[in-house]
Amino acid sequence: MDRLNGAANLMIVSDLDFTMVDHDDPENLALLRFNALWEAYYRHDSLLVFSTGRSPTIYGDLRKQKPLLTPDITIMSVGTEITYGESMVPDDGWKQYLDHKWDRDVVLEETAKFPELTMQSETEQRPHKVSFYLEKGKAPNVVKALSKCLEKRGLDVKIIYSNGIALDVLPQAAGKGRALAFVLEKLNAGGLGPRNTLVCGDSGNDAELFTVPAVNGVLVSNAQEELLHWYTENARSNPQIVHATERCAAGIMQAIGDFSLGPNVSPRDIGDCMSSGKVLGPSHEVVMFYIFYERWRCGEVENPKQYMHNLKSVFHSTGNCVHPSGVDQSMHHVIDTFEKAFGDKKDQYYRVWVDSLSFAEVSLGSWLVKFDKWEISGEIFLNFKSLVLSSILQLASLYLIH
Ligand code: GLC
Ligand code: MG
Repeated sequence: MDRLNGAANLMIVSDLDFTMVDHDDPENLALLRFNALWEAYYRHDSLLVFSTGRSPTIYGDLRKQKPLLTPDITIMSVGTEITYGESMVPDDGWKQYLDHKWDRDVVLEETAKFPELTMQSETEQRPHKVSFYLEKGKAPNVVKALSKCLEKRGLDVKIIYSNGIALDVLPQAAGKGRALAFVLEKLNAGGLGPRNTLVCGDSGNDAELFTVPAVNGVLVSNAQEELLHWYTENARSNPQIVHATERCAAGIMQAIGDFSLGPNVSPRDIGDCMSSGKVLGPSHEVVMFYIFYERWRCGEVENPKQYMHNLKSVFHSTGNCVHPSGVDQSMHHVIDTFEKAFGDKKDQYYRVWVDSLSFAEVSLGSWLVKFDKWEISGEIFLNFKSLVLSSILQLASLYLIH
């Protein structure tokens, strides 16, 4: 968040499973399209927040399996744990706040009286979250009876049913919506509060997100029955909330367009990534370059000779690329090296994406761009951290003259 020096432009607050991540899409098409959109147009002045039911342990697992960007803020365990930045610094104030009228041991004692409840794995039991599995048909009665029991014991809790299978017991002050309101308050106090906020979800524990004042919301097309039910009862006539016709991350991009929050055409949807001739800023140039790089290695570029020629004329002769290892090479040399790699990933699953991109103008028309470049090749996840490309816009101004 250090790169913000005033109000964030847009804040996207998204659930992960079946909202940002489509587990039915092994190619991660929509997610990679979203990533390119975010890094090209939003990363430098906006905030990305992931809000998940997952504990830190299985959130970490998901990040190893799927091409997820690094969020600015991570809200985990159904709004009971908030962390900031890449190094995930915990918000201790939030933890203390949740202690009010909360006693885990009493929750465990009372829930043990319900044979219908099966404990989830140990990793999903957290200081302010106790989680179970519960059959759909039994949910309404169990929820009712359990709230009575816990109230009698003097606790003020929130019981949430999600995904037609999961039951979470949390302090009343917790939950994804309350956690978001807390974060927004903090950002506003520091003058970083977003001009627009878009919340995105698919299941029961996301319903609260849509109740936070002054936010736009999207239910992805594949939303679960319990969230659709909530929508019908509470939000159908609210123009601030839409039910997308697209699944997961594609639904999020659709909503960015519906609410006119900014660009919503992913650079990945621009077929001819080297010849648009339009300069949209250093971040867009870098994102497009790596889309081209991926397509090149997959052998998906027609007329490769012509492309190589264009590419070299686009990059300024003094432009260079500093690898995290410290090796400094001219961009022309880098292009020569990868020219040889044409089609070497053909017929393989090979994807490249750029993460945490930031840039600064170091002299007039000359930009220093920092980012993490990630790639998946087959099953292997490689991370080339903090590649530095410089002089990108100098290259881009040549582009304009052409
Ligand atoms: C995630 C969590 C689980 C929780 C569910 C619904 O799947 O891992 O503990 O019950 O979300 O909130
Ligand atoms: Mg979900």
